[in-house]
Amino acid sequence: MRLARRMGRLGTETAFSVLAKAKALEAEGREVIHLEIGEPDFDTPDHVIEAGCKALRDGHTHYTPTAGIPELREAIADDVSRSRGIEVGPEQVVITPGGKPIMFFTILALVDEGDEVLLPSPAFPIYESMVNFVGGRPVFVPLRQENGFRFDLEEFEAGLSERTRLVILNSPANPTGGVLTADDIAGLAGILRDRPDVHVLSDEIYSRLLYTGDFASIASEEGLGPDGRTIILDGFSKTYAMTGWRLGYGVMPESLAEEVAKLQVNSNSCTSAATQYAGLAALRGPQDAVENMLAEFKARRDLIVDGLGELPGVDCITPQGAFYAFPRITESGYSADKLADLLLEEAGVACLSGTAFGRHGEGHLRLSYANSRENIALALDRMGDILSRAVG
Ligand SMILES: Cc1ncc(COP(=O)(O)O)c(C=O)c1O
Repeated sequence: MRLARRMGRLGTETAFSVLAKAKALEAEGREVIHLEIGEPDFDTPDHVIEAGCKALRDGHTHYTPTAGIPELREAIADDVSRSRGIEVGPEQVVITPGGKPIMFFTILALVDEGDEVLLPSPAFPIYESMVNFVGGRPVFVPLRQENGFRFDLEEFEAGLSERTRLVILNSPANPTGGVLTADDIAGLAGILRDRPDVHVLSDEIYSRLLYTGDFASIASEEGLGPDGRTIILDGFSKTYAMTGWRLGYGVMPESLAEEVAKLQVNSNSCTSAATQYAGLAALRGPQDAVENMLAEFKARRDLIVDGLGELPGVDCITPQGAFYAFPRITESGYSADKLADLLLEEAGVACLSGTAFGRHGEGHLRLSYANSRENIALALDRMGDILSRAVG
């Protein structure tokens, strides 16, 4: 089949292919511990499920307005205004099936061929994929373990050029668990204030999964709010364990929201009605499930970081947010790809090579600790067997 040339520039998310490979092994009777896929292993809170079911029974089985039902746009605007300390109106909110379409739509809407986009590396692979797809040029700013996987601000500034059209930020970050501090955000804002022609896509999907301190958003900085040039990406997948419902949103300048809604009407029309009502219950209802999930993730984080620290050839810093550990494995003697393959095939531990997140992910693995403490402990044992064979 002859495909359009642009298809050759589209990347993918390896987590889904490793999951498929692990499932194929399971179908052959092998037992696999899943540390590859980035989704909470918890169930959606009961009151949220009930609200979704009730919406269906109440007849919410039709199309909704493209940008979302007014009640949910309003609730999101309130929530974002409160959590980021800014004023956001419902007309700035576009609700989408998951947070991912906000990447797709904003990059399509803002980046022309030849435009440069500044990206962290390693990072969620869809950023680079989408920038390449539209003919833009990704410019990578490395995130290094020595620096807690935060930007070196000088390197960040040096990455900007006359052609830079968009900057993508992600904190807390996938795959590293790194978090930009309030000082980092202030420093970035200082740099970006001199570049009013540059938009910022701030992927804040893990903003509620933060283990210490308060969440700092670039959108709270003077001159960088979503009334001007920042697009906040957030959603319900991680915070409320709702990955399968598909519910996310962008908060952006009203004029851009209209364009993004146009892209949505040209693709998926709107987000499922019942899902949006479930989201309303999630935002407006009790938040104890989020707090409980965070406490459990923290305990698992400590377990996995301690365990990884004991393994030969591995060193791992403590992630400050999200639910990923990103240990360095260079001393093991294996490349990241080779070790990830070996762990799946010989130890039944599914995880991702750091290279799935770009060149700067070499020498690391990404382990999602969205799995039980028991399974994490077992996975660490099995990793120990493989690594002692290699190193020692
Ligand atoms: C950094 C980051 N942004 C966005 C998403 C998209 O989430 P969803 O489309 O499921 O809401 C993910 C999912 O893994 C992610 O890791």
